[in-house]
Amino acid sequence: MMIARHVLRSGFDLIEALLGKLFPPSWNPMLNLGALGFYFYWIITVSGIYIYIFFDTGVHNAYSSIEYMTHDQWYLAGIMRSLHRYASDALIVVMMLHFVREFARDRYRGVRWFSWVTGTPIMVLVFVAGISGYWLVWDRLAQYVAIVSTEWLDLLPIFGEPIARNFLSPDALESRFFTLMIFMHIAIPLIALAILWMHLQRVTKPKINPPRGLALSVFAALIGLSLVHPALSQAPADLAVVPGRVGLDWFYLPLFPLFETLPGSLTWGMTACLLLIMIAMPWLPPLKRARPAAVDLANCNGCARCYNDCPYNAIAMVARSDGTAFEREPIVNPAYCVSCGLCAGSCPTSMPFRRLSDLSPGIDMPDHTMAQLRDQVEAVASGLTGPARIMVFGCDSGPALAKVRSSTVGTIPLTCIGQLPPAFIDYVISRDLADGVMLTGCRENSCNARFGIEWTNQRLARSRDPHLRNRVSRERVRTAWVGPSGTSALQVALSAFADELQNAPAMASSVPLAELSPASREPVDA
Ligand code: HEM
Ligand code: SF4
Ligand code: SF4
Repeated sequence: MMIARHVLRSGFDLIEALLGKLFPPSWNPMLNLGALGFYFYWIITVSGIYIYIFFDTGVHNAYSSIEYMTHDQWYLAGIMRSLHRYASDALIVVMMLHFVREFARDRYRGVRWFSWVTGTPIMVLVFVAGISGYWLVWDRLAQYVAIVSTEWLDLLPIFGEPIARNFLSPDALESRFFTLMIFMHIAIPLIALAILWMHLQRVTKPKINPPRGLALSVFAALIGLSLVHPALSQAPADLAVVPGRVGLDWFYLPLFPLFETLPGSLTWGMTACLLLIMIAMPWLPPLKRARPAAVDLANCNGCARCYNDCPYNAIAMVARSDGTAFEREPIVNPAYCVSCGLCAGSCPTSMPFRRLSDLSPGIDMPDHTMAQLRDQVEAVASGLTGPARIMVFGCDSGPALAKVRSSTVGTIPLTCIGQLPPAFIDYVISRDLADGVMLTGCRENSCNARFGIEWTNQRLARSRDPHLRNRVSRERVRTAWVGPSGTSALQVALSAFADELQNAPAMASSVPLAELSPASREPVDA
């Protein structure tokens, strides 16, 4: 599993980097797969409602009503039909990529099992909805799909009478059965939508809309495709003849040749095994994860920054229980917490300047505390020499820090870059522990903990609390969001940064420690 994840991760990283050259960072389709999935869902829904108006739900006229849309009203209903088809195909593509990418990024184990396990029925339902859609055209392909799938279903003793009998002869197929298919084609996506709602319950502010530019470009591409290559039907179904060669849709029906040729017991066995493996994957093997965030009420003022910054809905603010004047306190739900550390990075009491009291913030990661982080920073800084000493803070999902470490470059690993309170940058610069600070991690818009980079950028830009203090010269702080394959890019960025630090004597330096007031050496708030 680990090797598979590693290979896939490298593959995705490469594709993301290539697409990154073609699109602005926020438009990169590979970083918007879930949102694109929703977008295609809406296109399918709107186009589906439109073509339903023209669709004749009786088995005898279904084909001709679709032919009417395709040829007589090609300019609207025909385009809507094509949009319905191509958005459905695109949904399969983005859904499969999203599923493989979540696997590759190891975002399916531990407490993240919930999103994975709820994703599995969604995947099945999307396929079933698409397959049932092919029946409705009632052409040769529909006939083939109907016969193969009902014969396959009949292998399970769930229906009183074999449903494949409906397709034995032209007289056997009743419009009632056809209406049932239409009902299924509408009901299944609705059920999938309800499960999608559950799918997103454990992520905060899920990205369900692609950026407008990407949405418009994708829509224009779908319209272009619909005009150049409109969706067409095959010859009308004829139950008196066995369908010969039919053109398959390789998005929804790639397994049909297998269902047709292999023994039913084997195909059912394989399907059941695949589904069971998918559902069991979060525990194959279980994730050995760090302990969840822990609140220390003695140091918490109830400001709710940790609550606002948690990407996984793991923090709730509740009535204060310790009798202090503060109104609220955070509580962490360990079943939701992925131990990313973003909450500790957002807490105003994560202050490395504290010396008189312990460095014990309102919320901390028991396996990688702020006090340990400060010790680590000081230990690494003591080994740095040279005129341009750089302290690199990097996340576990980013470039290989060990490869950039040297006598002038010290490295501090974090679970996520969002775990770093900006006060630590201030600490490094104002205590002269290094001449510059480099922050690195995943690619932009691709943070493994969802918001680590976004929050960090906002904290550095001083638009999100806790922000980088004004006394820290921004020229001494750099970011390199280069992803796991970006070690050489980080190396290049570090060399350039070292040159700048060395060759810019006029660079506004940080306030020397001696000039800091005792209060600012021991602040309680950013
Ligand atoms: C139509 C199908 C699907 C749609 C529209 C969809 C949509 C989404 C969205 C919008 C998110 C939140 C992303 C974010 O804002 O960071 C998400 C998360 C997730 N999805 Fe899906 N999803 C679909 C199917 C699946 C499937 C089939 C799987 C795997 C079996 C899956 C696994 C996950 C996981 C594990 C996460 C959580 C990622 C994390 O922990 O950060 N999804 N999905
Ligand atoms: S460690 Fe991450 S998931 Fe857990 S409470 Fe903090 S911010 Fe939320
Ligand atoms: S950010 Fe810190 S001080 Fe604010 S509510 Fe959370 S734990 Fe308390």
